[in-house]
Amino acid sequence: MEIKEITEGDIRLLIPSKRRMTRKDVVFYNRYMKLNRDLSVSIARVLKPERFCDLLSGTGARGLRVSREAGVGRVLLNDANPNAVGLIRKNAEINKLDVEITNKDAGSLLSEERFDFIDIDPFGPPVAFIDPAIKALENNGVLAVTATDTSALCGAYPRACRRKYDSLSLRTDYYNEVGLRTLLGYVIRQGLRYDVSFRPLFSHCTRHYFRAYFRGRKSRRDCNESLQSLVYLQHCFNCLNRRYSPLDGWVEECECGHGFANAGPLWSGVFADKEFCSGVMEELEFSERGFELVDLVRGEQDITNPYYNIHRVFHRRGISARPTSEMIDSLSGIGFMAVRTHFSGLGLRTDAPVREVYSIL
Ligand SMILES: C[S@@+](CC[C@H](N)C(=O)[O-])C[C@H]1O[C@@H](n2cnc3c(N)ncnc32)[C@H](O)[C@@H]1O
Repeated sequence: MEIKEITEGDIRLLIPSKRRMTRKDVVFYNRYMKLNRDLSVSIARVLKPERFCDLLSGTGARGLRVSREAGVGRVLLNDANPNAVGLIRKNAEINKLDVEITNKDAGSLLSEERFDFIDIDPFGPPVAFIDPAIKALENNGVLAVTATDTSALCGAYPRACRRKYDSLSLRTDYYNEVGLRTLLGYVIRQGLRYDVSFRPLFSHCTRHYFRAYFRGRKSRRDCNESLQSLVYLQHCFNCLNRRYSPLDGWVEECECGHGFANAGPLWSGVFADKEFCSGVMEELEFSERGFELVDLVRGEQDITNPYYNIHRVFHRRGISARPTSEMIDSLSGIGFMAVRTHFSGLGLRTDAPVREVYSIL
């Protein structure tokens, strides 16, 4: 395998020089995931874990950055691929970082050791790793999960979503929010089986992936409380109305007379903790994009209704679209909350019902 050296964050990193290699020697490095790793570093700085597990480490980029840039004392980097582990060792060496490195299947590692921060960054869905990670997570520990199978989560492949996430999906105009909420709902539901309540600390959708950080707390009371936010989403493709419905109480018909389409179970609560976001922003001094993203996510947590795609709303009324900022001003002017969303530049998050949104057009 031919390798080249790059710099990411504060570390030197050896990565495969060819983008396409044979299956046998492929070691995965994706430069578009740098933002994802920048955020991991800042979050590790805020949380200061005792023992961080980079479960699916690839080149070691994330775990090594957490060790150097967040100053976490005990970092374990693991990968099942021996070529990846060879590269992780070299990367640890050239950066003079004292970390643990293992070459194990993720499941067996998690059955042997415990951590207070477990990072799961797989190819595609994270579902196979969630259960063993819950068992290996210390009480009050943090679970970080990436999912790149956005087409399943966002409604393009509904049967894949049923199989992997045990959830109904829908291709709505706010499909990426449905996808993120489905992922959150899945992890939270898995925790409930062990009386572990997972509270989202921060989550986002960027490019082709979802990423979520949860605090896991052993508490039956908290689990029962989170049951209230595990719901179905009901969407009307006629008037774009949407509502969350308890699992035992969905309604057949929208107020416009058309039938609702349903998605879920999914998480209807906040997908980030505002105070936590502020802490992360303080640690994100070198990433302007990261700072903007966390700021947007923080700003949208007071409204949990899915966002409206402004173009879709105007198109529905057959009139040309106006800027999102004008819509925000108009809705605020009549007493509703209205903000932008990190999910889309054309997105408007508001607590106004759909008829009020139409009324201001
Ligand atoms: C998407 S890559 C990880 C990228 C890395 N986290 C980063 O930020 O650059 C997924 C990695 O998981 C490893 N992997 C896949 N299945 C595994 C398993 N069951 N146990 C351990 N490693 C596994 C692959 O070899 C691959 O290196």
